Amino acid sequence: MPETLTITDNRTGRQYEVPVHDGTIKATDLRQIKVTADEFGMMTYDPAFMNTAACRSRITFIDGDKGILEYRGYPIEQLAEQSDFLETAYLILFGELPTRPQYEAWTKDVMLHTMLHTNLSKLMEGFRHDAHPMGMFISTVGALSTFYPDAKTIFSQESRRLQTLRLIAKVPSIAAYAFRHSIGRPFNLPDNDLSYAGNFLNMLFRMTEPKFTPDPVLERALEVLFILHADHEQNCSTSTMRAIGSSHADPYSSLAGAAAALYGPLHGGANEAVLRMLTEIGSMSNIPGFIKRVKAGEGRLMGFGHRVYKSYDPRAKIIKRMADLVFEVTGKNPLLEMALELERIALEDDYFVSRKLYPNVDFYSGLIYQAMGFPVDMFPVLFAIPRTAGWIAQWEEMLNDPDQKIVRPRQIYIGARTRNYVPKEKRK
Ligand code: ACO
Repeated sequence: MPETLTITDNRTGRQYEVPVHDGTIKATDLRQIKVTADEFGMMTYDPAFMNTAACRSRITFIDGDKGILEYRGYPIEQLAEQSDFLETAYLILFGELPTRPQYEAWTKDVMLHTMLHTNLSKLMEGFRHDAHPMGMFISTVGALSTFYPDAKTIFSQESRRLQTLRLIAKVPSIAAYAFRHSIGRPFNLPDNDLSYAGNFLNMLFRMTEPKFTPDPVLERALEVLFILHADHEQNCSTSTMRAIGSSHADPYSSLAGAAAALYGPLHGGANEAVLRMLTEIGSMSNIPGFIKRVKAGEGRLMGFGHRVYKSYDPRAKIIKRMADLVFEVTGKNPLLEMALELERIALEDDYFVSRKLYPNVDFYSGLIYQAMGFPVDMFPVLFAIPRTAGWIAQWEEMLNDPDQKIVRPRQIYIGARTRNYVPKEKRK
C-alpha cells in the first residue's frame, strides 16, 4: 500500500491524502489545500531551508547524529587513509573509483590543464598588493568564463568534461598565483611531474631551485585535507552552485558564485575566523573570560557547531590526528594548546553540550595550514580548491535531473499593499 499523509484542514474540515516518498512529501502537493478556490494554496515556510530537501542526490551521504560522512558510499575515514585527492575527485564526479588505467588517464588529463592563460596572470597582477586571495580567486574563476566561451554549451557532455578538467586543474594554479601576488613574488609555473598536491606546493613555495621537491608529509597532509573538503552535500556554497547553475549559467560563473558563498565566516571562512579568534584570545588565562562572553551571546566559538553534525564532525577527528604528523615537520603551532583547552572546556560545558556543539572541520584545519606556512587569508582558498570537485559533481547532477528547474523560492509578502504615489514636495 502506498504511504500517505492525511491532513485535516481545520479551517474547512476537508481531508487531504498526500503521497509520502523517501520520508518526504512534495511541497507542491500542499497547494491543493485551499479555503477558497481562487487562493494560491498552502505553502511551506522554511527560511534557510532547515527542513527542505531540494534535490535527490547520489553523491554524498551524511548522518549528522552519528557523525557519518560517505562519498558515493565510501566512508571518509577509508578515503582519507587510502585514497588521494584526484582519485576521490574522480569518485565524486563519476560515481565509481577509477580502475588503474582510468586513474592514470584522469591524472594525466587533469595535469595537462594546470597552466593559466598569460592574460589571466596579467589580470591577477592588477589586484592591489593586499587584496584578499579569496577575492582574487572568486574574480579569476569568474573570468575563466571569458577565456572559455565554449563552456556555455552546458548540455554537451564532452564540453562539461573539458570544463571539469580545466577547473580541477586550474583552481590550485589560481590559488597559488593569489598567494604569490600577496607576498610579492613571481608566479611559479606548474610542474606536471609532481602530484596534484605536490605541484600546488611547488607553485606556492618554489624559490630559485630548478626543481622543487615537496616534503612528503606535508604533501600527504594536503591530499588528506583536500579529500576531507571535497564535498559535503547541500551546504550553502553547493546550494549556490546549483541555484546559479539552474539558470543555465556556465560552470565558471556558477563556481565563482559558489566560491563567494564559501567566503563567508559562517561557512568556508570559519577556519580563518578560528585563527583570528585564537590570536585575539591571546593566552590561556583569557580562555574562561572568552567562554563566558560566548555563553552570554557576545560572539561565537568559531569552529564549533554545524547545521548537520550534532556530534563530533568525522573530518575534525581525522584532521586532529593528522595535526601531530604535520607538527613533527613544521614544529608545533603555538595556538594549538589554546585550541585544545577551548575544546576541553567546551566539551564539558552544559551550554555547548546541550546545544550539541562540537568541533567542526575548521577548528583544527587552520592550525595545520598556518604551520605549513599559509597566511590566514589563504584558508578559504585552500577550502575552495578541493570543493571544486564537489561543486561540479553537484552541478552536473542538477543539470541531468529531470525534476530540476530554475530555482525560484516563494515568499510571504508582509509589506504595504497598493497605495498611490505621492509627489516629493507633498511627502511628510
Ligand atoms: N558558539 C556559540 N554558540 C553557538 C555556536 C558557536 N559556534 N553555534 C551555535 N551556537 C548556538 C546558537 O547561539 C544557538 O543558541 P540558542 O538556541 O540559545 O539561540 C544554538 O547554538 C543553535 O545555533 P544556530 O545558529 O541555530 O545553528 P545553525 O545550525 O543555524 O548554525 C553554524 C550552524 C552556522 C555552523 C553555527 O554553529 C556557527 O555559527 N558556528 C561557528 C562558525 C563555524 O564554525 N562555521 C563552520 C561550519 S562548517 C563549514 O562550513 C565547513
